[in-house]
Amino acid sequence: MALPTPPDNAIAPETPVLDDPASNPNDLQSYWLPFTPNRAFKARPRLLVRGEGMHYWDKSGRKILDGISGLWCVNAGHAQKSIVSAIQAQAAELDYAPSFHFAHPKVITLAARLAALAPPGLENVFFCNSGSEAADTAMKIARGYFAAKGKPERFRFVSRVRSYHGVNFGGLSLGGLPNNAKGFGPLLPGTEHRLPLPYDFTRDRYTNGELDGGTDYADALEKICAEVGGDTIAAVIVEPMTGSGGVFMSPKGYLRRLREICDRHGILLIFDEVITGFGRLGYAFAAERYGVTPDMITFAKGVTNGAVPMGGVLVKKEIYEAFTPDADYAIDIFHGYTYTGHPLAAAAGIATLDFYRDEGLFERGLKLEPKFRDAVFTLKGAPHVVDIRSVGLAAAIEMEPIEGAIGKRGYQALETAFFDENLVVRISGDTIVLIPALIASEGDIGRIVEGVRAVLNRLD
Ligand SMILES: Cc1ncc(COP(=O)(O)O)c(C=O)c1O
Repeated sequence: MALPTPPDNAIAPETPVLDDPASNPNDLQSYWLPFTPNRAFKARPRLLVRGEGMHYWDKSGRKILDGISGLWCVNAGHAQKSIVSAIQAQAAELDYAPSFHFAHPKVITLAARLAALAPPGLENVFFCNSGSEAADTAMKIARGYFAAKGKPERFRFVSRVRSYHGVNFGGLSLGGLPNNAKGFGPLLPGTEHRLPLPYDFTRDRYTNGELDGGTDYADALEKICAEVGGDTIAAVIVEPMTGSGGVFMSPKGYLRRLREICDRHGILLIFDEVITGFGRLGYAFAAERYGVTPDMITFAKGVTNGAVPMGGVLVKKEIYEAFTPDADYAIDIFHGYTYTGHPLAAAAGIATLDFYRDEGLFERGLKLEPKFRDAVFTLKGAPHVVDIRSVGLAAAIEMEPIEGAIGKRGYQALETAFFDENLVVRISGDTIVLIPALIASEGDIGRIVEGVRAVLNRLD
């Protein structure tokens, strides 16, 4: 496979000089960074000015290894030529087309391509612009579906502790990371019930491989059904791998049991595949890896390789059909966005799916998985490490927090990795998360892991 070989040289001559006061005052004051300690960032900014393949460059020409696929999204590596060209050509040909009452060829093609990639039965796609919008869209579709079926009493959603379904009020209300909701209440009614995390910290730490069982965790859904009435629940939504909450895999029997219980009670099952989709777990969707077909899949990120914002919801045909009105002039669903199926995103999406297919990247990720996991597990015993979890091309190296300062060691790890090891890592509290692109070589994996080892050795 022809993998991109980023130049070893320093910065390209055309790279803009960000602190040139004539072209850009580079005054950091105005910019409010999301999910970032802004004051600390502004005291010591981390600016990325160019990306190619597995690397970024900063403005001084320093080459920095991207250990996290952008932000779980650049699965094919940065600035892939075919994706870049597709976006450029699309901007010149059709920059925008309204999505209400009109369509354009690329969005139709992309919908068909995604339906072909998805498990059989998920035949229709509703597009939006992010994973957060995808979660809220799926929730509206679930409630709308039952309303159309004459069952509006099915309005509840069951999600899971430690889950992340984005930051809009629907997904936020489902989320299981308390910091994200703090100060933003009240949340959406009917979203109060959480399944347990299918992970036992006393037994499962450092599991190098798949976790067995898991049906008992799924059986917690039966208890919730008994408590609130299974016939009041519209949908159960889970990430097949808890991502932002710290990389927790689904044990082998877990998702299948959830499916069985949902079927027994007529509940829709939604997989949030915003990060597990497009090769992260070695398949187009994690549903395929686990052999379980949900009723809806939310996706985003890797669908365009992160190059243009896009999200969406794949739905079973009968869900789509339930919205069909009697009259020809009547609207199916009163939902959508100005940028639903944006031409640039659709063009990027088609080029991205072509690249994944032509380079066999999902299979490549699956083959790399055991090598990546073994490499990451060599960090067992390194300073501060209390657990290592890995599935697909994702891994969490959990560190013991500094007493009274949860998150401080994690932030120090991020800074040390960037400034001292030329490496971008993700942190979730005091957990270091690694998410290499599917194009990563074994050498890249080795450099990422050795960078983390050096960081761990240097932390307080
Ligand atoms: C599982 C999951 N759902 C939803 C989202 C939200 O996606 P976005 O940041 O594109 O809104 C994310 C983001 O990481 C995610 O991991």
